[in-house]
Amino acid sequence: MPFDRYNRDIDYLRISLTDACNLRCVYCMPEHMTFRPREELLSDGELQRLISLFGAAGFRKIRFTGGEPTLRPGLVDLVRHATQTPGIETVGLTTNGVLLAGLAAPLRAAGLRSVNLSLDTLDPEKFRRLTRWGKLDAVLAGLDAAAKAGLRLKLNAVVSRGTNDREDVVALARYTLEHPWQVRFIEQMPFGNNSEFQLRSLVNEDELRAVLAAAYGPLEPVNNGRLDGEARLYRIPGAAGSLGFISPVSKPFCADCNRLRLTADGVLRLCLLRDNEVDLRPLLRGGASDDELSATIRRAVTAKPWGHGLEQHLIPATRGMSEIGG
Ligand code: 5AD
Ligand code: SF4
Repeated sequence: MPFDRYNRDIDYLRISLTDACNLRCVYCMPEHMTFRPREELLSDGELQRLISLFGAAGFRKIRFTGGEPTLRPGLVDLVRHATQTPGIETVGLTTNGVLLAGLAAPLRAAGLRSVNLSLDTLDPEKFRRLTRWGKLDAVLAGLDAAAKAGLRLKLNAVVSRGTNDREDVVALARYTLEHPWQVRFIEQMPFGNNSEFQLRSLVNEDELRAVLAAAYGPLEPVNNGRLDGEARLYRIPGAAGSLGFISPVSKPFCADCNRLRLTADGVLRLCLLRDNEVDLRPLLRGGASDDELSATIRRAVTAKPWGHGLEQHLIPATRGMSEIGG
């Protein structure tokens, strides 16, 4: 099994399928964004080869992310390949939901069991402003289709002060009363030249829990406060679903980190919030053998840094969230 230098079992690979997106969330991208040319992105064949090698190396979980992964024409086949890869037990997808209505049933048929849907507000006008042009109706249709297709759902909201830190989080949390979904609130993380804004509008977990408790009464800890992945879980008493808090800034979970990230252009990113990288694309395109690639993957696991340096004001500079995929 792939253990790193700090005895963490690194068995989870997040794969960004494209840096492009059909939205422009204000905290994520400028409106006029240039994306990588197609030839810089790994092909479906290159991705399938890597997924098989990661499965053989002891990785148990794969998540497809973006940018927006539903923009990749080969998504359903990649999901099928991943679910059928020996060693891989769990395959996930993180999407903004815009194209999910048409994809939920085919993805479920390809073996996908669950979807993480990014949704920051249920107010159509605010959603449009936040995403610069997004239509909330399309996302809600995607949510509905995913639920009908039998996909388990987690909703992810990035909370930003003055934008969605009051009524919006209360409205999103209300979903859990009736639905068995996990509604999660994510602390906004700083990247590159957007970091000042991202840190200024950070709303931390403690404050957010107080907002929710004021609306719904005291929240009950789920699992005795143990982390579920990276989320701390609570429940509104009597609710069907749960509330998750992902707090990389105020309560770092680096000690429990089990992941590597593969960017769409074939670079292994060893920590979301540090710029250490291992480039696999020159190997893939330079005729490297499976053994050579596997050795490089093992070396990358070993080289994984301990944790982020936000407290020392070390902000990642080379890539933003949309190029890493969260
Ligand atoms: N901090 C935290 N989450 C972010 N996302 C995008 N930018 C940030 C940020 N700065 C989220 C999106 C989506 C996921 C892919 O990453 O909202 O849920
Ligand atoms: Fe697209 Fe996600 Fe970035 Fe929004 S946060 S612009 S949906 S990649």
